[in-house]
Amino acid sequence: MPMATHPTETGGTVAVEIDQLEKTYSGGIHALRGINLSIEKGSIFALLGPNGAGKSTTMRTLATLTQATAGTAKVLGFDTSTESSQIRQKIGYVPQTKCSDPYASVRDNLLFQARVYRIRRGERMVRIDQLMSDFGLMDSASCMASQLSGGMRRRLEIAMGIVHKPTLLLLDEPTVGLDPDARLELWDMLTKAVDRDKMTLVFSTHYLDEVDQYASKVAIIDAGRVMAEGSPAELKRCIEGKMYTVELARRSDGDAAMEIIRQIPRVTRALQIGGKLHITGGADHEFSQQLSQLMKSTNIEILSLQVAQASLGDVYTRVTTKAFDPSA
Ligand SMILES: Nc1ncnc2c1ncn2[C@@H]1O[C@H](COP(=O)(O)OP(=O)(O)OP(=O)(O)O)[C@@H](O)[C@H]1O
Ligand SMILES: [Mg+2]
Repeated sequence: MPMATHPTETGGTVAVEIDQLEKTYSGGIHALRGINLSIEKGSIFALLGPNGAGKSTTMRTLATLTQATAGTAKVLGFDTSTESSQIRQKIGYVPQTKCSDPYASVRDNLLFQARVYRIRRGERMVRIDQLMSDFGLMDSASCMASQLSGGMRRRLEIAMGIVHKPTLLLLDEPTVGLDPDARLELWDMLTKAVDRDKMTLVFSTHYLDEVDQYASKVAIIDAGRVMAEGSPAELKRCIEGKMYTVELARRSDGDAAMEIIRQIPRVTRALQIGGKLHITGGADHEFSQQLSQLMKSTNIEILSLQVAQASLGDVYTRVTTKAFDPSA
C-alpha cells in the first residue's frame, strides 16, 4: 500500500487556501455558503462583515475547532478536516470571547499556555518575559487576569496566543470593546510582534479604520459569502470615480435628465434626490465627459458634477446591504 504523503508546510507563498467552504450548524443555520479565499504568507488579512456574517465560523474552521460541512480549507498546506494536529502546532488562535483564566495571574496564564505547547523549561521564562515586555504587561505580572483593564486583558490573550511562535495567527475581533487609545496601543504591540516573528495574521473586525490601516488584504463577508476581496485601496478603487453627484441648474429638468442618464450604457444605478442626481457608473474621465455632453445636447444645464471619493465604508455598505437572499 503506498504511504500517504503529507505535504510539509508549503514552501509556496500561500498560508490559507479556502475552497467552496460551507458550514451548516446542527440547528440548520447555513453559516457559510461557499467561501473562497487565498491568504498569502506574511500578509495581514482582515475579515470584515456584519454580525452573523460567518467570520467566527471561518476562523474556527481554520483553527480546526469546527468541521466544515462541504468544501476544503488548507492551512499551511494541511487539510483542516484530516490534519488538525499538524495545524494546531503551527497556529495561534484567540477567540472572540475572553479566553484567559480570570483567577490566574498574567504570568501563570502565560506559563500555562507555554506548558500546553511543551516549551522547554529553560526557554519558558525567557519567552514569557519577552512577551510581557512586548505587550506592556511586565508591571502586571502578578495581577489576576480579571483585574486587568479590557485592553490589557486582550493583550494578555494575544500574548498567550503567540507564546509558541506560531506561523499563522488567527485573531477573532482582537479589539472589540476597547477604547480608541487601547486599540491603538494593542495594534502597535501586535504589529511589532507580527513583524518580528514573521507571522501571517488573519483577523476579524467591525472597525473599518483598522482594516484600512493595518490589513494588506480584506475580504468582506456577508451571509456566508465573500462579497468583495482585495487590498483596501483596490476595493476603494472599484468605487472611486464611480459615484457621481450631478446638480442641475433647473430642478424641473430632473426627470428628463434621468431619462438620458438611463440610456448611457455604463450607468448601473441612478437616483434623483432633491435637485441632485446620484449616478453609479464608469470610473473614467470619458464617462463624466459623456455625461456632461449628453446633458448639453439636450439643453439640460449642469451646475456641478462631483465625483465622490469612496471610503472603505462605501464599499462595505455597497456590498453588504443587498447581500442576503433568504431563498438561497
Ligand atoms: N455553534 C453554533 N450553533 C448554531 N449556529 C451558530 C453557531 N455559531 C454560529 N452560529 C450561527 O452562524 C451564523 C454565523 O455566525 P458567526 O459567529 O460565524 O458570525 P460572525 O461573522 O462571527 O458574527 P459576529 O460579528 O456577530 O461575531 C450566525 O447566524 C450564527 O447565529
Ligand atoms: Mg464573530
